[in-house]
Amino acid sequence: MELSKSSLVVLILTSICYVVQSTEVSYDGRALKIDGQHRVIISGSIHYPRSTPQMWPDLIQKSKAGGLNAIETYVFWNGHEPRQREYNFEGNYDLIRFIKEIQNAGLYAILRIGPYACAEWNYGGIPAWLRKIPGMQFRTNNQQWKDEMQNFTTLIVDMVRREKLLAPQGGPIILTQIENEYGNIMGPYGEEGNQYVKWCASFAQSLEVGVPWIMCQQDNAPQPMINTCNGYYCDQFKPNNPNSPKMWTENWSGWFKAWDKPDPHRAAEDLAFSVARFFQLKGSLVNYYMYHGGTNFGRTTGGPYITTTYDYDAPLDEYGNKRQPKWGHLKELHAAIYMMEQALIHGDVKDVELSKGVWATKYIANGITPGCFISNTNENSDATVDFEGAKYFVPAWSVSILPDCKQEVHNTAKVNVQTSIMVKKPNTAENEPNDLKWSWRPETLRHSLKGLGGSFTDYTLLEQITTTLDESDYLWYMTSVDTKQYVGITQEHEVTLRVNSTGHILYAFVNGHLIGSEYAPNGNFTFMFERKVMIEPGENKISLLSATVGLKTYGSFFEQMPAGIVGGPVQLIGDDFTIDLSKNEWSYKIGLDGEKKKLYLDNPEDKWYDEKLPTKRPFTWYKTKFQAPLGLDPVVIDLLGMGKGAAWVNGNSLGRYWTSYLSSTNGGCRDYCEYRGNYQSQKCQTGCGEPSQRWYHVPRSFLKAGEPNTLILFEEAGGDPSKINFQTVSVGTICATIDQGKTVSLSCQNGQSISKIDITRFGEPEGSCGRFEKSGCDSNEAYFAISNACVGKESCSIQNSENLLGGCKSNSLTSKKLVVQATC
Ligand code: GAL
Repeated sequence: MELSKSSLVVLILTSICYVVQSTEVSYDGRALKIDGQHRVIISGSIHYPRSTPQMWPDLIQKSKAGGLNAIETYVFWNGHEPRQREYNFEGNYDLIRFIKEIQNAGLYAILRIGPYACAEWNYGGIPAWLRKIPGMQFRTNNQQWKDEMQNFTTLIVDMVRREKLLAPQGGPIILTQIENEYGNIMGPYGEEGNQYVKWCASFAQSLEVGVPWIMCQQDNAPQPMINTCNGYYCDQFKPNNPNSPKMWTENWSGWFKAWDKPDPHRAAEDLAFSVARFFQLKGSLVNYYMYHGGTNFGRTTGGPYITTTYDYDAPLDEYGNKRQPKWGHLKELHAAIYMMEQALIHGDVKDVELSKGVWATKYIANGITPGCFISNTNENSDATVDFEGAKYFVPAWSVSILPDCKQEVHNTAKVNVQTSIMVKKPNTAENEPNDLKWSWRPETLRHSLKGLGGSFTDYTLLEQITTTLDESDYLWYMTSVDTKQYVGITQEHEVTLRVNSTGHILYAFVNGHLIGSEYAPNGNFTFMFERKVMIEPGENKISLLSATVGLKTYGSFFEQMPAGIVGGPVQLIGDDFTIDLSKNEWSYKIGLDGEKKKLYLDNPEDKWYDEKLPTKRPFTWYKTKFQAPLGLDPVVIDLLGMGKGAAWVNGNSLGRYWTSYLSSTNGGCRDYCEYRGNYQSQKCQTGCGEPSQRWYHVPRSFLKAGEPNTLILFEEAGGDPSKINFQTVSVGTICATIDQGKTVSLSCQNGQSISKIDITRFGEPEGSCGRFEKSGCDSNEAYFAISNACVGKESCSIQNSENLLGGCKSNSLTSKKLVVQATC
């Protein structure tokens, strides 16, 4: 093929551009240097498999708009290599596409390859098939492990290199991580652990990615690995080498949710405080873990008991909506920090204590406007301080940012952005009946209950993970016992069936009947199942179905934490005898019949029944058709009334559900969250005693518009689908509390406009958005002016000025703060 002149020119030009685009990443003790320039990096975690490729551009744009200049993700090994040397990089596992979306948005990427992730992800991200490799031990100086880790890590590095995604190739990846928080758990591995850390470092370097490697929570990270900090606060962190910059790989923006726990929240004020303190104390890179948490689709939730939602109380909620005020408050913080970026990364630091617990920090550099922070780390006492000739009010547990050391541009405790209360609305599709029409079919149990259909037998009770290699949640243990040989059993006889299980859930069947089930609450998987049962003289069939709900993610030797009925004992206990079945011949079957038939794909040959819809019937498949809700708002399914199982829409997994599991009151719940003082995950919780997860995300891309969609459920514990319905999530009530002279903007989303103004009130507000108390003074002038400016618009901005006071002017107000509440 001959190249025309013009294409030759294009070719030359692109290669020149390519050279120009290549980015050099280096660092010193101060910060990362990008093309020789020190940079402040503000990054956020988005885990690509926890959303869909269709959602990625919007999530990334909202991250950029929120003031991030980088996106971080782990790489999820067991998602990419579900079976040894069988790879999956499709759909929401399309890592390359995700990184390219980051690049398209003009952001940097931080790739935490691991390949151990933790991340509340099934088995910490490590494929369970590794367990079949003889002699395998995870995350230590074990040849089998190192071989597999090397194989996968090299594969990922080769892939990103091939796609030119590393910074020196002009790509967005500026940092790569090996391992994850190994330092936290390495003690019990002894010298082997130390050797492994050294191996990780030299292996990583041998990959020659051309960007720095990080090892988080790894105090003994060998040079040139950079050790970084994870936690709620990292201001006190010091890297192990003076030439390593102070970087914070996980600033937990909230916390993850478990089936047995309430919803954790971390206040925007505290999160902002932690970040500002970090930069005040010479931090140079912060990453929010998570910026968008998302959803654990499929069987990806980790144990113990991580929910399908991985919302994390992150700045973008599970569905991708801006969580306000968190998103907006951080955006303002980021803008203030970037304003003083030059001073921060070049300046000398001068600290002065202005009063007890109140410090001013000044960054001074030649030829650059100095930048200042004033922090008040007291938990209760607000402070008014003099600094360089001016007075500043610094509330308790807050940091003020003065990018020119004169004017406060941001204070982490002063929230000047709207609060949005999200609401769920009924399905808006036309002609969609309130009650869905269901069909059903039973899970075929009869073979298993007769002990038939096993794929192999063994004379021991096997460990579940090593038996199933996590190909399914379910493992049948089936045996039979002839009681005639036991003295005294010549007629029906009541005994106790006792099963010692290491979890996670057990269903016991005797002679074809379900006699009971049990799970161990609070993440403690070991439990003893005991039920009275009648046994026959002669042969009795005992079938035990053990189910896992996500494998352990964390801790030394976590992979060896057993599941299933390993070793038992399984016993039948009568008044004066015990029959131990542990050494019986057990027949094993992995998975359910419906899973093997792939009933969730709704194949035309599958038979479903329309009549006599059963409820509270364990092991039942349900199916219905529905129309997709109109509009752009995210879609959820309300599974109230259901027990435990899994859900699919048009063959796409929504994940496991466990609606019947009520969250504990562990730590207590409260509406108001005190942001002052150190945060921990039980500090601010809601939803005590409620179904721990009732709503499940149905990404828009799973739905077909204008034609029927199929929902299929597998209900394992017994549920009632009659209340199930689809809803959309949108902004409901919005509020802002505006200081005098300040301007705040209000907005809805997805094209929705403000429909009415509910409150325009002056004074110190009491209560919270949607629940303000009747205190202060309602102003008609403000009402008309704001209604005029906002109603019918998707967004508007409001300045709290004197003329809005109207009749409230004469009122003896303690404050002239303006509270506005509106409805979208
Ligand atoms: C860290 C870990 C993360 C995640 C986090 C809690 O220890 O590195 O992967 O598990 O805890 O959400």
